[in-house]
Amino acid sequence: MKKETFDDISSLVKERSGIVLTREKEYLLESRLEPVARRYGMQSVDDIAGALRRPGQSGLITDVVEAMTTNETFFFRDRTPFDLFKNEMLPHMKTARRREKKLRIWCAAASMGQEPYSISMLLKEDPSMAGWRTEILGTDISNEALEKAKAGLYSQFEVQRGLPVQLLVKYFKQHGDMWQLDSAIRAMVQYKNFNLLNSFTLHGRFDIVFCRNVLIYFDQPTKKDILERIAKQMPEDGFLVLGAAETVIGITDAFKSVPGKRGLFMINRKDEAKAPLRAGLAGAAVKPVLPRPAASRFASRMPLKAG
Ligand SMILES: C[S@@+](CC[C@H](N)C(=O)[O-])C[C@H]1O[C@@H](n2cnc3c(N)ncnc32)[C@H](O)[C@@H]1O
Repeated sequence: MKKETFDDISSLVKERSGIVLTREKEYLLESRLEPVARRYGMQSVDDIAGALRRPGQSGLITDVVEAMTTNETFFFRDRTPFDLFKNEMLPHMKTARRREKKLRIWCAAASMGQEPYSISMLLKEDPSMAGWRTEILGTDISNEALEKAKAGLYSQFEVQRGLPVQLLVKYFKQHGDMWQLDSAIRAMVQYKNFNLLNSFTLHGRFDIVFCRNVLIYFDQPTKKDILERIAKQMPEDGFLVLGAAETVIGITDAFKSVPGKRGLFMINRKDEAKAPLRAGLAGAAVKPVLPRPAASRFASRMPLKAG
């Protein structure tokens, strides 16, 4: 692959999705984009870069960005966030929202659905949630992942990863070597294609946000921007759940970690944010300024996806 090919495609992917591809990821770019090149009848990834310099390439841009997403996920991934959901977040919300009996949850990188469906199963398993209006929104930039999420059809390998056997037996039906998730559990989740770089305001407010294992792909200003915009969509007692390798510390003071609860964060109230010692390192973070993206070298400036 030519150097300009890597430079051009990695800056396009960064501009359209936030995903940062460093030079060491050249092999990844090549292996993920070779099938895209073949699908478009091209010889190589260099041909993709050539085509992207011509106008009217929004379909190819979408496919290139989609190919560079990593959709790895599984049911009850890392377990702890789901234990925290059941034992900390849900009991809090049951008391705090007992009058309106309404709960809104957002899975901001839902991938193929295992994360939102793990949450739906936990809600279904809790008899005291009967009579509550629970909305789960699952969003992702990848159409392919979302199609699989909506279908709720998983392989033997996928249901063996993290899903307790009693939930498998209760909520899935076997069709050949695939497992179909119960329609009532599927109906609890609404899926939408959505790019985290776009404005969140249309989605409304969420009591609980799962934004797991996606910030790791972004640079620091993008993480900060996304986290601060998530904070604006949450009430003061809302919960944010990040992936095991992700944190707000040193990135933003919009959230504070919940002591002793790994991966769990809450809104940092303004009075607390002013006291860096009490708020921890997060209190020292600077005011957010997301740099404007550099001018694209690509002809097409069509937005990647609506959302
Ligand atoms: C590794 S998966 C995480 C799935 C799930 N949250 C989990 O922890 O198991 C990361 C997901 O983030 C999505 N993603 C990457 N960039 C995105 C963006 N800019 N907006 C929305 N989703 C994005 C990818 O398509 C992928 O499905």
